Amino acid sequence: MVRLEGYRACEAVLRAPEARQALYDEGAVVMEGTLLTLHGAEHAARRAVEVRVFRRDFLRHYAREVYPATLETTLTPFLAAGGGDLVDLGYRATVNLTADFAGIDRPENNDEETGALLAIVKLFSEGATLVHATGDRDAIVARVRSALAAFETRFLAPSRDRRKAILHARGAEALPRDVLSVIVAAESELPLDPATLAREMAFYMQAGAHSTANATVHAFHELWHWAGDAADRQERLAEPLFVQRAVHESLRLHPASPEAWRTLVAPLSLPGLATLPSGARLVLDLHAANRDRTVFGDEADRFIPDRALPEGVLPSGLSFGVGVHSCLGRELDGGTLARPGIPANSVNLGIVPMLVARLFALGAAPDPDDPPTADPRTSRPNWGRYPVRLVKAQ
Ligand code: HEM
Repeated sequence: MVRLEGYRACEAVLRAPEARQALYDEGAVVMEGTLLTLHGAEHAARRAVEVRVFRRDFLRHYAREVYPATLETTLTPFLAAGGGDLVDLGYRATVNLTADFAGIDRPENNDEETGALLAIVKLFSEGATLVHATGDRDAIVARVRSALAAFETRFLAPSRDRRKAILHARGAEALPRDVLSVIVAAESELPLDPATLAREMAFYMQAGAHSTANATVHAFHELWHWAGDAADRQERLAEPLFVQRAVHESLRLHPASPEAWRTLVAPLSLPGLATLPSGARLVLDLHAANRDRTVFGDEADRFIPDRALPEGVLPSGLSFGVGVHSCLGRELDGGTLARPGIPANSVNLGIVPMLVARLFALGAAPDPDDPPTADPRTSRPNWGRYPVRLVKAQ
């Protein structure tokens, strides 16, 4: 097992075709055969089909036309209560988003249905990140198996059958734009057995919801403490492009997965290191790489939203991955990064910046009587509860 902590070394491995995904081997119950775990030609074929959903025109349409309404519906109970748990809000807002992209219908469109899907998706996340679980692993696997069965019966089967019926009656043009539709339409090009399809959809649901919710809470926390009582900083919380940049800076400090794991399928030479043999297992410490002082400077550990970056380094560092497995949801969640001088209203801000900006507009503040706590179910540094009050909502 070789551990790499430097930014350039981690980036080189993520881009290397010799390195196969290995982080989810333990989470096979929900991850086996999913896009993130495939390698080589099999991965390229699956990705080429699924990437069709993530085209820029659709992301823009989704962020502008669909998501604002979803967000307001999700916020309604929090507004009525004058606050709530930000982790829960993050999950509720993003579970609907992810379901839209994955192609999981919610015909009832009510709180109970969102809650049921959310409970299932949280179990999928526990299954996928089993390698970092702190609880009894067999019990987690058993819970994930029942969640997969419940998901199949209540959500996946009706969504799949509806798409098949549309395809049969009206053709591919009439299908909704989502991952399940492209898979149903590409059945001969990309046949997936029912169990693999269920895991693929489960993977999308958890990949999107879990990381989006965590990114939202971390960004809120960082920005809240950064602004403090300084009036000039508080004013900047109302600037959408600043919030977007700050979300990416927070993502750099808090990668959804603090490590990536790879196994070499052929020898790999890395600059400054001996050639690593085929079969070597590599742990890429993304948390450390994103704080590499040779890239991000002496204050690499600090949250500095306006920081200058070297050419070719993303503000979010390696947090969305790079190379063949780079995140398909990056522009959806983080938006299209604004270039200097571009007006805010012409930029796709991204779901997380939109959500964080809305929270500040509502005067969200940590609840002084109920401090946030870390998630005890994982060794990953995530918030488990983050109670806030919406001061301007009343
Ligand atoms: C802030 C939110 C998110 C973060 C930080 C994030 C992070 C990542 C990372 C690090 C990877 C690569 C993992 C690796 O190389 O081992 C990845 C892959 C992926 N992400 Fe995301 N993600 C986010 C949101 C989303 C959303 C919303 C979706 C879908 C709606 C999504 C879909 C995917 C998919 C499909 C892959 C696999 C790509 C492949 O293997 O070819 N992600 N994500």
